[in-house]
Amino acid sequence: MENLEELKVKWIEASATASTIAALEEVRVGALGKKGEISALMKGLGGLAPDERREAGARLNEIKDSVAAAIETRKAALSEAAIEAQLAAERIDVTLPVRPEAEGRLHPISQTMDEIVLIFGEMGFQVAEGPDIEDDFHNFTALNIPPNHPARQMHDTFYLAGATGRPANPSSPGEEDGARLLRTHTSPVQIRTMQASKPPLRIIAPGRTYRCDSDMTHTPMFHQVEGLVVDETTHMGHLKGCLIEFCRAFFGIADLPVRFRPSFFPFTEPSAEVDIGCSRKGGELKIGAGDDWLEILGCGMVHPKVLEMCGIDSARYQGFAFGMGIERIAMLKYGIPDLRTFFEADLRWLRHYGFLPLDMPNLVRGAMR
Ligand code: DAH
Repeated sequence: MENLEELKVKWIEASATASTIAALEEVRVGALGKKGEISALMKGLGGLAPDERREAGARLNEIKDSVAAAIETRKAALSEAAIEAQLAAERIDVTLPVRPEAEGRLHPISQTMDEIVLIFGEMGFQVAEGPDIEDDFHNFTALNIPPNHPARQMHDTFYLAGATGRPANPSSPGEEDGARLLRTHTSPVQIRTMQASKPPLRIIAPGRTYRCDSDMTHTPMFHQVEGLVVDETTHMGHLKGCLIEFCRAFFGIADLPVRFRPSFFPFTEPSAEVDIGCSRKGGELKIGAGDDWLEILGCGMVHPKVLEMCGIDSARYQGFAFGMGIERIAMLKYGIPDLRTFFEADLRWLRHYGFLPLDMPNLVRGAMR
């Protein structure tokens, strides 16, 4: 009996001091495994006299249970310690500031596009895309700009080598030579969207556009964002509400004056240009209430001919469209004075006007000046 008590103390101690799960498993095998010490003693019970066997059996069972319980207790403690150690090793202090080595900056054009997408995205618009290299049909004809239309000259189109882009026979509108050109506006994405999907449609299309023009306020490549809504009930009131809301959200000025001035575009009827309020007192341009106006975009109700050219029944469907220059509204919002600097890839400029990539675009930043 004394021996058995020692045996019990020995294995319980061994369990309690095992420092790893693996060491504990060795203890279990040594005591309770098939060839373990306690198991061997239990096997030996058969050789004892019945009275002795009963007593020793009961005692051994008790020892076995105590050792098993000690092993379980230790196992639970070791597992918990292992999890604690892992948690401690993987701990992240989320209150630490962002690492200072984030050196890159987002170009103001990317930032502005993100902001535009965010605002229209919340209004339920989807982002659509089209190719930079377009054909005459999508860039002009389908937008109700037939061959010889003066708007074609105004667009200073870059034609791709080997193609004139003009119709094969100028006196026969619609007959084209399949010319390729760099799109002069994002409006062809309207056409591609209407050709590819059925109304209701609600898309914006930001992207690059090209015109053979270069001076203080023009670069051969620039960016526009197009918008298109087509369904059965949309009217001019929706166009106005949508664009007023956009202007106020983009510039972060809740009471920004916005006015619609009659204008002309071949692909919309009626057409309008949108001005926002500003003041130019003391030669300094300030967006917001003032006694002056600044033009920022073109818009209108989609011309029935454009719908028909895309196979949409203009008696049933109608909608509105708009287009604006991204550089222009970025310059106004972020106080960037010179258009050409956008494309000079000057790192000092980018450090000054660029945005930290980890800063999410939002509707407020840049508005409080
Ligand atoms: N495509 C025009 C341009 O480049 C801008 C524009 C005006 C787009 C009116 C539109 C619109 O969708 O409705 O100058």
